[in-house]
Amino acid sequence: MTCHLLIPAAGSGKRMGAACNKLLLPLLGEPILQWTLKAAIASDAIAWIGVMAQPHDYPDFQKIFNSLITDKPIRLIQGGATRQISVFNGLNALPTDSDRVLIHDGARCLVTPDLFDRCDRALQKMQGFIAAVPVKDTIKVVNGDMVTDTLNRDQLWAAQTPQGFQVDILKNAHQTAVEQGWEVTDDAALLENVGLAVQIVMGEETNIKVTTPQDLAIAEFILQQRK
Ligand code: CTP
Ligand code: MG
Repeated sequence: MTCHLLIPAAGSGKRMGAACNKLLLPLLGEPILQWTLKAAIASDAIAWIGVMAQPHDYPDFQKIFNSLITDKPIRLIQGGATRQISVFNGLNALPTDSDRVLIHDGARCLVTPDLFDRCDRALQKMQGFIAAVPVKDTIKVVNGDMVTDTLNRDQLWAAQTPQGFQVDILKNAHQTAVEQGWEVTDDAALLENVGLAVQIVMGEETNIKVTTPQDLAIAEFILQQRK
C-alpha cells in the first residue's frame, strides 16, 4: 500500500514571462522544480514520483533528477496541452500497484515534507481531498465594475495542492471528463462533478504557487528564512 506522487510540470509559465518553463528558473541557485522534488524526496509517505513534462524540457529535467540523491524512482511522463491532460497522462503511467495518488504542482515549490506526510495520512481515510487554507480577504462578486455580492468568508477556502485521491476513483472521474468534454482547473472539481466527496486538509500559508515574477522574490525570501 504505497503512495505515489504526480507532479504536473508541463506548463510554459506564460504569466512569468520567462524565455523558458518557469520551473527551470532558479531560487537561491536551484531550479524551482528541484525544490519541489527535494520536499517530495524528504517525505516518508511518498514511494514513487512521476513528473509530467513537455519533451523539450526532458534534458533539463533529467539533469535535475540526476543531481538529487535518492532511492525513490523519479519518472518522466509526457505532459499535455492542459494541466488536466497532463494529470490524465500521469494517471495512466502510474505503476499497477498504486492505490493512493497525490498530485502536486511543480510550481508549489515551498511545500514541506510534513504537508506531504499529513496529506497521505489523511488520504488513507478519504476518497479525495485538497489542501486548502481559509481565505483572509473579503471576496466580492463583481459584474463589470459593479459589486453584486459579498461572500461569507467562513465558507471560503483557497485551494492548494497537494490534492489526493484513491487512484481508481480519480481515473474514473478523468475518463468521464474526457467522455463529457469537461474542462476543469483542478482534479477535485472532477470529483465534485461526478458527485463524490472531497474533503479538506489544512494547507500551509507559505505553500504559494510561483506564478508571476514577484512570486520569485517572495519564494526566495521564505526559503532564505528556512535556512
Ligand atoms: N502544467 C502542466 N501541463 C500543462 C499546464 C500546466 O503540467 N499543460 C503544470 C505547470 O507546469 C505547473 C502546474 O501545472 O506546475 C500549475 O500550473 P500553472 O501555475 O498555471 O503553470 P503554467 O501553466 O506553466 O503557467 P501559466 O498558466 O502562467 O502559463
Ligand atoms: Mg497554467
